[in-house]
Amino acid sequence: MGGLVEKSSFILFFLLTSFFVFSHSKAIKPEQPCKRMVLYYHDILFNGTNVANATSAKASNATQLTHNFGMLVVFDDPITKDHHLLSPPIARAQGFYFYDMKTTYNAWFSYTLIFNSTEHKGTINIMGADMMDSETRDLSVVGGTGDFFMARGIATFRTDTFQGDAYFRLQMDIKLYECY
Ligand SMILES: *[C@@H]1O[C@H](CO)[C@@H](O)[C@H](O)[C@H]1NC(C)=O
Ligand SMILES: *[C@@H]1O[C@H](CO)[C@@H](O)[C@H](O)[C@H]1NC(C)=O
Ligand SMILES: *[C@@H]1O[C@H](CO)[C@@H](O)[C@H](O)[C@H]1NC(C)=O
Ligand SMILES: *[C@@H]1O[C@H](CO)[C@@H](O)[C@H](O)[C@H]1NC(C)=O
Repeated sequence: MGGLVEKSSFILFFLLTSFFVFSHSKAIKPEQPCKRMVLYYHDILFNGTNVANATSAKASNATQLTHNFGMLVVFDDPITKDHHLLSPPIARAQGFYFYDMKTTYNAWFSYTLIFNSTEHKGTINIMGADMMDSETRDLSVVGGTGDFFMARGIATFRTDTFQGDAYFRLQMDIKLYECY
């Protein structure tokens, strides 16, 4: 009787550990996303007169500290598949960034990509630090809805071009590792 209990608890233990090992062996490999999209983000800062084509505006001014520290920009930016500003947008990026580093230019982004086309309907939520001095920066894809239900992954930023304060373009290489 005692031996049977011991045996069955051993089997239970074995089943639990093998389940644990099995469920954690599905290792996520950075080079194997379940979905990948390379998109371009276009930002034209409102300068007081360019009402027609501005896509973003300062909502709070920089402080007296260096590197725009404290400046907050709210944006409603077009997202295109190629790097042309005037290509038909496939989504919009709506959210904000603010500068939050004293020693260099670093912005913190938080925004939603809103897709409303025949190809995709839904949203992807992205946030993280944009260390502009680096060639590429990884931000987190923290969730999604619709076609991107429960999405998680990485959005790699690369500055494609910038014209001073007036315009900048980012390449966003979005790699999802959870797709439903
Ligand atoms: C604002 O931008 C527009 C379009 O780029 C430009 O024509 C205008 O001179 C700019 N105004 C200021 C105050 O910089
Ligand atoms: C914004 O519009 C102005 C006036 O039409 C134009 O001069 C300027 O080049 C535009 N800015 C961009 C980034 O296309
Ligand atoms: C923001 O700061 C600049 C430079 O200090 C100043 O010229 C401008 O008037 C300020 N804008 C607002 C809205 O306070
Ligand atoms: C999505 O696009 C359709 C068709 O153009 C439009 O009727 C609808 O209002 C849009 N929805 C949103 C949330 O923009």
